[in-house]
Amino acid sequence: MTRTILRGRILTFLREPESERDKSSYRYLEDGFITIENGRIVEVAEVHGSGAYEAQKFNEEASIIDHRPHLLMPGFIDPHIHYSQMQIVGSYAPSLLEWLNRYTFVEEQKFADSAHAARIAGAFMDEMIRVGTTTAAAFCTVHKASVDAYFRAAAARNLLMIGGKVLMDRGAPKPLTDTPQSAYDDTKTLINQWHGKGRALYAIAPRFALTSTPEQLEIAGVLAREHPDCYVETHLNENLAEIAEAARLFPDSPHYTGIYEKFGLLGPKTLLGHVIHPTDAEIALIAETRSVSVHCPTSNLFLGSGLFDRERLAGAGVRVALATDIGGGTSYSMLQTLDAAYKISQLRGGRLHPLLGFYMLTLGNARALALEDRIGTLSVGSDADILVLDAGATPAGGLRMETVSSLAGELFLLQTIGDDRHVVETYVAGKAMKSAPPAGVVEPKQGGHLG
Ligand code: GUN
Ligand code: ZN
Repeated sequence: MTRTILRGRILTFLREPESERDKSSYRYLEDGFITIENGRIVEVAEVHGSGAYEAQKFNEEASIIDHRPHLLMPGFIDPHIHYSQMQIVGSYAPSLLEWLNRYTFVEEQKFADSAHAARIAGAFMDEMIRVGTTTAAAFCTVHKASVDAYFRAAAARNLLMIGGKVLMDRGAPKPLTDTPQSAYDDTKTLINQWHGKGRALYAIAPRFALTSTPEQLEIAGVLAREHPDCYVETHLNENLAEIAEAARLFPDSPHYTGIYEKFGLLGPKTLLGHVIHPTDAEIALIAETRSVSVHCPTSNLFLGSGLFDRERLAGAGVRVALATDIGGGTSYSMLQTLDAAYKISQLRGGRLHPLLGFYMLTLGNARALALEDRIGTLSVGSDADILVLDAGATPAGGLRMETVSSLAGELFLLQTIGDDRHVVETYVAGKAMKSAPPAGVVEPKQGGHLG
């Protein structure tokens, strides 16, 4: 039996930290081993002094990879991202609805071409590995082929990825719309084809209230009822003009969240992107249904959507997750995303300390996806999705690290200056993937162009 053993400093969370001094919320080993067999973690142990443990492990015919002095952590999780928007990141627009109309609804039409979808899906998975994201929940496009491309690219790298076909039957250009019936049929086919196949998990994805008729939201609710083990992913309360339009389209609803409630789309597996401008009644409803609010800080800053109030939502019992929202978001890195969340929290007078931040990137986001038994920790039995992090990976980072004397200080530096350069290695189900050659690079049809 081949075993791989990773040696280094090991950090994994056990529960949500109550404060920056809550040492019992995590397990930290100054020098430890993680033993991996068949893609899973089978042992996590501390090294005590002599080389006895190491010698014993060598006798077990395991290959030991020594990552000291770097930090081993669970892979990061990104619960809201659009893989189809890679080529519109950083597109200038005054706010959400203009950005959607000018760029997004044009770009996503390209995914009718399955070769294009395959090329972008491959690049997306490689980028996830580069930045240390080992699980993401992605919106694909309205096209069935975009979902096939996404899950094929994930399977080729053995990544645990969540995704689904976007449902949209109005409010967008004709080539980007489906119908309630075709959305139902296509989603059914895709769930049967992909959900639970290998590491793939499916998300039923009505884009948002502005692009679905009541008939289509009804059908989405039917799908959610028929497949309670699948996720529901959508957008909610991101922008004031969007909220006004939702009220105009659904005049009988007491508020925006009520639209999703009416069609049975709220629940513990529902991921609600943004939730920046909710009323108290909406917050109570989100909390009561155990739905997840997904904070997307770089996107909210870039599109000028507003400042998410983590303390208000969490204080009311809402489950909160953290995500990039590429391509409204501006960085693929969950470290950069945490940096932006911290700065928004500062502006709100909150206290998003680094222990809470790294909990959110790992166990917190795993809990938001109800996947904490599989990912998000370095517990025995978990999938071996593991990062090797080095806060001193850059010259300036190395210099700054000379003055860092605590784990919390190191984490805070990682989130403040960290990006893909600080992810030394990404293990996916026990296999080193960042240093491995990319799986099947598909060349572009033509070169890049200006203007
Ligand atoms: N609301 C509906 N669709 C989108 C999208 O693609 N990105 C963002 N940020 N918000 C949305
Ligand atoms: Zn989004």
